[in-house]
Amino acid sequence: MEKPLTQHIPASGAPLHLKEYEAVGGYAALRKVLQELTPAEVTDKVKDANLKGRGGAGFSTGMKWSFVPAEATGPRYLICNADEMEPGTFKDRWLLEGNPHQLLEGMIIAAYAIQATQGFVFMRWAYKEAAQIMNQAIADAYAAGYLGKNILGKNYNLEMQLHTGVGRYMCGEETALLNSLEGKRAVPRAKPPFPQVSGLFGKPTIVNNVETLSYIPHIISKGGDWFKSLSYTADGGTKIYGVSGKVNKPGAWELPMGVTMRELLEEHAGGMKAGYRFRGALPGGASTDFLTDVHLDVKMDFAGVAAAGSRLGTGTMVILDDRTCPVGFVHNLEHFFAQESCGFCTPCREGLPWTEKILYALEQGQGTYADLEQLEMHTKLLGPGNTFCALAPGAMEPLQSALKYFREDFEQHIKEKKCPYADHTHR
Ligand code: NAI
Repeated sequence: MEKPLTQHIPASGAPLHLKEYEAVGGYAALRKVLQELTPAEVTDKVKDANLKGRGGAGFSTGMKWSFVPAEATGPRYLICNADEMEPGTFKDRWLLEGNPHQLLEGMIIAAYAIQATQGFVFMRWAYKEAAQIMNQAIADAYAAGYLGKNILGKNYNLEMQLHTGVGRYMCGEETALLNSLEGKRAVPRAKPPFPQVSGLFGKPTIVNNVETLSYIPHIISKGGDWFKSLSYTADGGTKIYGVSGKVNKPGAWELPMGVTMRELLEEHAGGMKAGYRFRGALPGGASTDFLTDVHLDVKMDFAGVAAAGSRLGTGTMVILDDRTCPVGFVHNLEHFFAQESCGFCTPCREGLPWTEKILYALEQGQGTYADLEQLEMHTKLLGPGNTFCALAPGAMEPLQSALKYFREDFEQHIKEKKCPYADHTHR
């Protein structure tokens, strides 16, 4: 492939300052947009590129922008969802700390496309360094005339503000994020209406992920066909993939969309550490189904991973090795999800702690076969359509697939009345 889009990240990992960003062509795309393109033409270019949302759901970005009603009066908002909290996911942090102006430029272009006059970066509370870097970048962009009144001398105004969240997983769900930004309790809203129609303070609002927005300047500069050509598959462009677990070189890399799990694991992550064998992976953060060694040649795009029975999600794989107890591994995840349930709907509020308790008992060697049936039942009762948002259904994905692929481990705990694994480092 050509040089990765995120090539501008300095090797030192130091933040890229405005002058450095401009020196590599930064803000040229914004200039082009304001001089040559109407808002609708910008949206069409993003549609042509087939850019799908990189927050995890993969919804068409251009289509989302086009849902803002043309006749809507009053303010419109553009929000960058930087509340990255999916376990095992650290790709947005890399972009926020390494290339803040690339994101800002993408945001300004997106805001212009929907004619927003106010933008927010809603950032995870724990990303302190990223917040400092982004605040500096926003101040520098104002000083250079890329934000504020009459941007680059044109008749377009945009204010931008960083808002740090409160450290709850729920705040990343776009409607809970809107409530949080309005100063309310971070519980999800019913959809429809979707935020594009009725979002922040009831006004049209687009919420896009950090990685998604970071591609926008490149799509504008080089076009949709160029972006699509970077991909190995029908899903356009590149993707920031990551690998964590007992591998030689855990990390994140920008690669053509559709690389295989095998390439990610063996080439980029350097293979499993000596003494550890690959047993499975959550392909896109914790709220996705396990895939196993029979899936290593699956192409990691939205359709490829779905066909294998999981989801691309955030594209950051969490590896399960042969020395880590799958029951304990899933218990650890369900502990997280139970803790992060907002408590708004009953199946999630009651079901997740129950699931967690059953898994704990099983891991301690105190479980029964009836517990396995209870867990199976929970995966359905907390599944899609039975809860208010995607948190509990997402939490059920690693559990249901662990029961399918690692069932002998669950049964071994019951038969031996103890955990057969000595290594409890997943805790
Ligand atoms: P979703 O599929 O309901 O929506 C995705 C986006 O498409 C939203 O912006 C939504 O407004 C829009 N959309 C979907 N259907 C639409 C329609 N009919 N009309 C107009 N707009 C529509 O998914 P959701 O609940 O927003 O996100 C779930 C995903 O988030 C999961 O796939 C998970 O992988 C990911 N996730 C990522 C996290 C992170 O830290 N990056 C944390 C937690 C979850």
